[in-house]
Amino acid sequence: EGGLVWRGCSTGLDAEDGAAGALGDGLNPGDKLEGSDAAADDPVHLKRRVGLFSGVALIVGTMIGSGIFVSPSGLLERTGSVGISFIIWMACGLLSLLGALAYAELGTMNTSSGAEYAYFMDAFGGPPAFLFSWVSTLVLKPSQMAIICLSFAKYAVEPFVSECEPPVSLVKLVAVISIVMILAVNCYSVNLATNVQNIFTAAKLVAIAIIVCGGAYKLILGNTRHLQEPNFASSTATFGNIATAFYTGLWAYDGWNNLNYVTEEIKNPSKNLPLSIIIGIPLVTLCYALVNVSYLAVMSVSEMTDSEAVAVTFGNRLLGPMAWLMPLAVTISTFGSANGTLFVAGRLCFAASREGHLLDILSYVHVRRFTPAPGLIFHSLIAVAMVLYGTIDSLIDFFSFTAWIFYGGAMLALIVMRYTKPHAPRPYKVPIVIPYLVLFVSTYLVVAPIIDKPEWEYLYAAAFILAGLLVYLPFVKWGYSLPFMDKITVFLQMVLEVVPTSTTFE
Ligand code: ARG
Repeated sequence: EGGLVWRGCSTGLDAEDGAAGALGDGLNPGDKLEGSDAAADDPVHLKRRVGLFSGVALIVGTMIGSGIFVSPSGLLERTGSVGISFIIWMACGLLSLLGALAYAELGTMNTSSGAEYAYFMDAFGGPPAFLFSWVSTLVLKPSQMAIICLSFAKYAVEPFVSECEPPVSLVKLVAVISIVMILAVNCYSVNLATNVQNIFTAAKLVAIAIIVCGGAYKLILGNTRHLQEPNFASSTATFGNIATAFYTGLWAYDGWNNLNYVTEEIKNPSKNLPLSIIIGIPLVTLCYALVNVSYLAVMSVSEMTDSEAVAVTFGNRLLGPMAWLMPLAVTISTFGSANGTLFVAGRLCFAASREGHLLDILSYVHVRRFTPAPGLIFHSLIAVAMVLYGTIDSLIDFFSFTAWIFYGGAMLALIVMRYTKPHAPRPYKVPIVIPYLVLFVSTYLVVAPIIDKPEWEYLYAAAFILAGLLVYLPFVKWGYSLPFMDKITVFLQMVLEVVPTSTTFE
């Protein structure tokens, strides 16, 4: 027994399928959705089946998504200098690595599902943990989905509009269609979703390989002129500009913490979790460095910043009759990432509503398909709204700002627990300067853009996080519920054919 369990309801995915699924974007079929850490007594106990290889694949597969195909132009634009943008790309890799090492301590210390949720619960108690699940289900996951689908749409329409800029409404329409398609896949079956994930992960590696080989070929031919002008002096970077440039870069690295959602399933986690991080993240950093060099081997800085879709321009320059390969590979890669992101989002939603932290209906599953349809639909609706009202860049800023508040929070949780739980077993202990450093950088990342150039997005995000408290007190802490909620729940249950699942281990 190792199926994906929604309150004891097996999805019919067996342990072997789960192992394949573990190669996806943080997919953890078989992960128990229960907060207890008594995995061994659990009737649906987990097989430890993520080894070192799958661990690395999971990290790499989650991190590489849309970012490396859309961010390089934005980063160059924000810094105005090849040299500085390259340094930022590398610094983002380092920051992700350090952050992930701190998460390795947290994840081996508290092995229950829910990552940040569980650490906040341990270190700070209910309200911050609630705020995390509130923000991640309502903001973080849907905005990830919206950004990836907008990138998908950009690449999907680009080949059809040749050199001119594609109409914004067309891009948005295609993005919405892709959200609906991914929703359909995930509501249809868990198996289909994990298969899509694995096949599409391969596509992004192909895309990266084409770019790196193409760039290497150009460099061998001696095309190094754009790389020889680092332009440090011409940089337009300011205090806050650097922070938002980091947002753009860090988006491409996001997902570095995803292995923490499957700690329960890692074989020998105290060794394999840190090791997967130490191998996986530098590997991604290396790929990104090579891809950036390759772009510049083929395009000039202004060509890059003007390009709507760098990888398409790259393909047009280099691949001749095979130019169509590039947008195809990128659309497949982004579709796969969006699929994995929605999959994880559905489960997060489930876990939060099971704790009484979100509406009950969101934790129900479809009667025949066993997919968490209400949660998925809910996420997709928010993602659609974000696609309609946002742009890739504004959403990336909005996302990164919010995400780094919580990544910083996790660092604080680690530091606090070193004092409050000094004797708790820590199979992997990170040098304490690392969380301090990451906490310092994340504070800068959150504060600098607000000081430098206050934008509405930041205010919305902050207000939204705090609004969580207004929901927490009456509905979670004091246990009130709205009088008409039951009727709505029953109505939705009938329309969507979903039921609460009985748990075997609650
Ligand atoms: N880094 C990915 C990209 O460049 C985004 C990952 C989104 N995060 C996640 N946890 N799925 O598209």
